[in-house]
Amino acid sequence: MILVLFNSHKNDKIISMNNTQNLSKTSEIYENIWVCMDKGVNDRLSDYHTFSLSTSCKMIPEIRTVVLRGCDREKQRIIFHTNNLTKKVNEIQDNPNVGALFYDKKAKVQIRFNGIAVINNGDEYCKNRWNKMSSQSQECYYQNVAPGKDIQYPEIVKNQLENKLSKNFTVITINIHRIEWLYLSSTGHTRVKFLKDKKFSGQWIAP
Ligand SMILES: Cc1cc2nc3c(=O)[nH]c(=O)nc-3n(C[C@H](O)[C@H](O)[C@H](O)COP(=O)(O)O)c2cc1C
Repeated sequence: MILVLFNSHKNDKIISMNNTQNLSKTSEIYENIWVCMDKGVNDRLSDYHTFSLSTSCKMIPEIRTVVLRGCDREKQRIIFHTNNLTKKVNEIQDNPNVGALFYDKKAKVQIRFNGIAVINNGDEYCKNRWNKMSSQSQECYYQNVAPGKDIQYPEIVKNQLENKLSKNFTVITINIHRIEWLYLSSTGHTRVKFLKDKKFSGQWIAP
């Protein structure tokens, strides 16, 4: 308690480590994973707010950071937004198998998801999400040059917001079929996998 009063940063660390250490059952870990996802969606300072998304282009792996925009524990989904003209959308069209990687540095927890990505564009689902976005976020989807295109100099790129859903705004939902959780601890690392075809019941695995 003294730490709460005099050193809130240190206390945060202790709380988050204790929380993880207290997770002695795989079912508790599973629930905690979704608590972390919720936090990632709602707290932009959380380590879960962004994740590394892996795709593949032919046989070549690709990876980049995206923002976690939504999660659905019941449907076992995570969601992010992107521009329809980005390479990742083509890659997902070619091969919807993707990976999503999160790392919580304070808690020393790594969460890996494997899933099938679904591309949503120009539909009611996108429209609902678009309407909840700030105009600053919406503006990014009105870029005059397609992302990834060669340009002579950076100032060529401009964004002019229009009062309608941008055709470039795309919502990607990842339907998860495998989760792996790893906790690093000086008293022994802990690792567990959750598979959709086993109804996401946990299985301890060697770290
Ligand atoms: C912190 C951070 C957050 C990002 N969030 C997104 C995002 O939510 N969606 C997105 O498409 N790109 C996001 N990007 C940019 C991507 O990492 C990437 O550069 C871009 O989408 C082009 O990727 P691609 O050519 O592989 O499709 C983010 C980058 C950073 C550094």
